[in-house]
Amino acid sequence: MFPESRPRRLRSTAAIRDLVADTRLSTKDFIAPLFVREEGNAPVPIKSLPGVVQHTLSSLKDEVRQLRDLGVPGVILFGIPKHKDEVGSGAFDPNGIVQRALSELRASVGDDMVLMADLCVDEYTSHGHCGVLNAKGHVDNDATIEIYTKAAVAQARAGAHVVAPSGMMDGQVGAIRSALDYNNFLDTAILAYSAKYASGLYGPFRDAVEVQIAGGGDRKGYQQDYRNTREALREAIADVDEGADMVMVKPALSYLDILADVRAAVDVPVAAYQVSGEYAMIKAAAANGWIDHDAVAIEQLTAIKRAGASFILSYFARWFAENNQ
Ligand code: PBG
Repeated sequence: MFPESRPRRLRSTAAIRDLVADTRLSTKDFIAPLFVREEGNAPVPIKSLPGVVQHTLSSLKDEVRQLRDLGVPGVILFGIPKHKDEVGSGAFDPNGIVQRALSELRASVGDDMVLMADLCVDEYTSHGHCGVLNAKGHVDNDATIEIYTKAAVAQARAGAHVVAPSGMMDGQVGAIRSALDYNNFLDTAILAYSAKYASGLYGPFRDAVEVQIAGGGDRKGYQQDYRNTREALREAIADVDEGADMVMVKPALSYLDILADVRAAVDVPVAAYQVSGEYAMIKAAAANGWIDHDAVAIEQLTAIKRAGASFILSYFARWFAENNQ
């Protein structure tokens, strides 16, 4: 007898496949991560992130206007300061590079774009950790939070619509919310990197921001262990309780199970960060002719959306906007 169910009927033409597709990617799903460097007067290419550069303030402004014209809804900024120190003062200095970039961008694109600022100190500390160190050389949770609250207020004052704490300190979201409220930044939103795993996939990013962790160290003392799931749910739920307006899972593709579980556990928007190593792997394999760049990029980005991402932070944002829609 013939089979009763014939799923192939809905696969028979491109038109019918498009009609019934569950997941649709659009330019509106993307946030572009951008790097801005305090020193120098020309953009500097990042070798391990082909197509991505360390911007000057002026090339950053051009890039953001172009992204706006292409329909990309927002950007997230990372800074490369001229000077680093023990506590990462560049993260909260009103004249720090990201604060200057935020105020120039706010003057240039206003509210047409969502301006996000990564809130951490690793780009600004001489030892490369995401916090300040205690006498034993460990990251001190509560002393670090003090610094994060100052950075949040400096970023909000400079014009950030969204601050995105990425340092994985316990209690950081609640403290940042209180500091923002106390300083009357009631409308500044928090996107919490809630489930941020200690991943090998951040390598190219550390080239991009010129960070080396002192003594060949790692971030396993504060970022999550990739063997664990329930811990991610606990972190996301705690962040929402502390006032996170949105939460994030990072990296993306190796953590689609976590993304789907977090999506089911909270009722705020859930972002996913397709990180530097995920982007670099596609670029490198495609450059060797081993995979089809466009096909693999779209497949992986679609998978991230299918797993539950409300939006995706991705170095492909501009490419997607230019080539797809
Ligand atoms: C911390 C931060 C990192 C990334 C985003 N925010 C680096 C880290 O935790 O080591 C990585 C992003 C990427 O790899 O694309 N400021």
